[in-house]
Amino acid sequence: MDFNPFRSGLSVSREAQSFVFVIFGVTGDLTRKKLMPALFSLYAKGHLNRFKIVGFARRPWTQEFFRSEVEKMLQKPELLAYGKETLEAFLKTLEYLSSPFEDPAGYQKIDTVCSGFAHRIYYLATPPESYGTIIQHLGENGLAREKGGHVRIVVEKPFGRDLSTARRLNDQLSQYFREDQIYRIDHYLGKETVQNLILLRFGNGIFEPVWNHRYIHHIQITVAEKIGVEGRGNYYETAGALRDMVQNHMFQLLCLTTMEPPNDLNPDTIRTEKVKILKSLRPISFRETPLYTVRGQYAAGYMDGKPVPAYREEPGVASDSRTETFVALKLFLDTWRWSGVPIYLRTGKRLARRMSEIAVRFKAPPLELFPRAWAYSGRNALIIRIQPNEGISLIMNAKIPGYTLNMRPVNMDFSYGSAFGESPPEAYERLLLDALVGDSTLYTRRDEIEASWTFITRILKGWEEDPSPIPQYVPGGSGPEEAKTLLEPNTRWRKL
Ligand code: BG6
Repeated sequence: MDFNPFRSGLSVSREAQSFVFVIFGVTGDLTRKKLMPALFSLYAKGHLNRFKIVGFARRPWTQEFFRSEVEKMLQKPELLAYGKETLEAFLKTLEYLSSPFEDPAGYQKIDTVCSGFAHRIYYLATPPESYGTIIQHLGENGLAREKGGHVRIVVEKPFGRDLSTARRLNDQLSQYFREDQIYRIDHYLGKETVQNLILLRFGNGIFEPVWNHRYIHHIQITVAEKIGVEGRGNYYETAGALRDMVQNHMFQLLCLTTMEPPNDLNPDTIRTEKVKILKSLRPISFRETPLYTVRGQYAAGYMDGKPVPAYREEPGVASDSRTETFVALKLFLDTWRWSGVPIYLRTGKRLARRMSEIAVRFKAPPLELFPRAWAYSGRNALIIRIQPNEGISLIMNAKIPGYTLNMRPVNMDFSYGSAFGESPPEAYERLLLDALVGDSTLYTRRDEIEASWTFITRILKGWEEDPSPIPQYVPGGSGPEEAKTLLEPNTRWRKL
């Protein structure tokens, strides 16, 4: 492998050559919102050379109709800015294959549409129920075999819904594909600020010496959203916040914040360090779930002055649903570095604002020298803002100007926008290009997925056994009050 995302910068030109990108489920939402805009943008920026995009789906669309649908997907000002010619050239690379996922005849056409290109990528963008069928047909029709070029498969989340289903999916994949052909996507890893965690921690000398239980009081990771389930009620009922956000995105943030320094930047070295973190999570037994976890569901109310329905009133949601739209967890890592440091995770929909951040709070100074130190000391914190307003702030205490020794916290700020003056690529652009050039650093390995599901499945079992009502929370706030019960003394949830 000649490119590594942590060794090279954004400006390095990377080019994927001679490939066919086959999207299963090309008529769906993910293709419309993320995949096509990302592929087009990569093309317009000159990262794709000699390629073809094949849409594979059930609907009986003609080639013309497919192209016109894709054209609609690309009607965004930032994409239209590349000009009509670029758009037309891109649309010419598209081909549609209409076939039920269960029909071998559809798969038999894939070799023909791919002929003349060296490499191929299959992208599973269908509902997860179809993954098994597609993998099996790809395998049985010899389409997973590499005959001179690379063959890779990208698998979207949800990757299973508990440990056994995730294992089954891994087994199905590994029956036909080698691990290095499998790319399990987690779009959080494509976010610039998430990758920056590695650079921040290991590209600077000042953080690592204090990055441990001796200096850190606790860590808080928040992924708050303003939106509700937005028409995805059917899917969300099968997931809930723990499966939808914690098992994947938030655990990635946790791993990158707490893992040991890797010895090198090879994809497997980094992923091995992440797995060690997941395996060191102190298990929460089903009796302990009320002590370490809090769930919530959004009630009806108002957001920005407009009425919004309760989760249980959303289309596709059962009126007595117990699916959580908010979850908070208190975790411990049983490692030398993190022993005894509480790590709080919180995520939810219909909260006060969209905000994802990692807050590392440091311990108070050993001696409280200053008047009113009790009120202000111990609030040193490093805040890593994932989105929006991407950047990092260091909160420290400073003297308030005047004749007395009063202090208050102030911020030392770094903001991506003003420091670099260019907007980072969309997460999907970055990740798709990585898959095309064969870099799996920002993709999840089999053991990583299984280690995270091992931990999450225990909580799910605990919840199944717990008949207590799910706390309801007011939209536009910070989630259920019960989340405060997780916190140790002298700790507060950060304001949303
Ligand atoms: C998805 C979840 O993986 O991530 C959604 O399924 C969630 O429920 C989304 O809204 C959040 O992603 P982002 O990039 O907007 O933070």
